[in-house]
Amino acid sequence: MMFPGPTGTNAVESALKLARKVTGRTDIISFTRGFHGMTIGSLSVTGNASKRKGAGVPLNHTVTMPYDQFVDETDSIKYLEQYLEDDGSGVDLPAAMIVETVQGEGGINAARFDWLKKVEEICKKHDILLIVDDIQAGIGRTGTFFSFEKAGIKPDIVCLSKSLSGYGVPFAIALFRPELDVWNPGEHNGTFRGNNHAFVTATAALDYWKDSSFEESIQEKSKITLDYLNKIVEENPELNGKVKGRGLMVGIECENGEIAGRVTSEAFNRGLVMETAGMDGEVFKLFPAVNIDEDALRKGLEIIEESVKAAVKEPVTN
Ligand SMILES: Cc1ncc(COP(=O)(O)O)c(C=O)c1O
Repeated sequence: MMFPGPTGTNAVESALKLARKVTGRTDIISFTRGFHGMTIGSLSVTGNASKRKGAGVPLNHTVTMPYDQFVDETDSIKYLEQYLEDDGSGVDLPAAMIVETVQGEGGINAARFDWLKKVEEICKKHDILLIVDDIQAGIGRTGTFFSFEKAGIKPDIVCLSKSLSGYGVPFAIALFRPELDVWNPGEHNGTFRGNNHAFVTATAALDYWKDSSFEESIQEKSKITLDYLNKIVEENPELNGKVKGRGLMVGIECENGEIAGRVTSEAFNRGLVMETAGMDGEVFKLFPAVNIDEDALRKGLEIIEESVKAAVKEPVTN
C-alpha cells in the first residue's frame, strides 16, 4: 500500500510511474471517455478534450482504445487485441492499461463484467499491468467495496481516494501486489503523504465493512434507486432518458446537456445537489451517500422526479 499525495490524481500518478518503472516500458493504454485527474500524467490518460487542452503541453506516451460500447456494434476487445498483436499496428507494448469499471465523469458508462474480464485476460497474456482507477467507483459506490469484485478480476494496481476517508477529507492510496514494490527509498516521496485526520476517519469507516450487512444494504438501496429511475424515464417520455450505471453510481442520460442541466437546476431549487457528467453534461448523476437511510433516499428520488417533471414541461427561468 502506498500513500501518495492526498488526492485522486496523486494516486493515478503514482500508479503510472510505478507501472513504467516495473516494466521498463513507457506507454500506457487508456480508454475513451476515461477521466483520471488533472495533473499531467493523469490528463495524458484522460479523454476529455477541454481538460486535456489545459495541460498546455503535448500529452504523450499513451494510446487511447475504445471503452466497452464506445461504438455500439464494434467489438472493442477484438480491436484492442488486434492492435497489440499486429506488428503493423503502430502500437508498442504498453506498461499498463488504466480503466474505470464505471466511468464517472465520462457519463456513468458501466463496462460489462465480461468486457473487464477480457481486458484482464489480454493484460495477462501480454504481461501488461492492469490498473483499476476505483477513485470514483470504489468504496461501495457500485455495491461492493471494490467496484471490480463481481467482474472477478484481480488488478495489479488499484487507485482509491474520494470516499476512502469516509468523511470528506483528502486521502488517497495506491494498492499493488507486493512484488511490484520496486521503489527505492524516497523515490516517490513528498512532504504531505498520509493525512493524519483521514487515517482516523477512514479506519472508522472501514467498520461498515466488517460483515456483509452494509454491502447488502447498498444493494437494496441500489434496487430502489434503479426501479425509481426506470419509472421516471417511463413516465416522462419527453425526457428521452436512459438509465445508466451500477449500484449507487447511477444517472439518467438525457437528450442533451441543456435538459440535464435544467433537471439539476430544478433539483437545486428544491434543496438537492446533483452533478452532471458526460461530454456535453448530458447525464445527471445520483451520488447519494452510500450509508443514506431509506427515507432520505426516497425523499431525494421524489425531488428528482418533481425536478424532471418541471424540467421537461417548462424552461428554468433563474
Ligand atoms: C475516476 C477518477 N480518477 C481520478 C480522479 C481525480 O481525483 P481528484 O479530483 O481527487 O484528484 C477522479 C475525480 O473525479 C475520478 O473520478
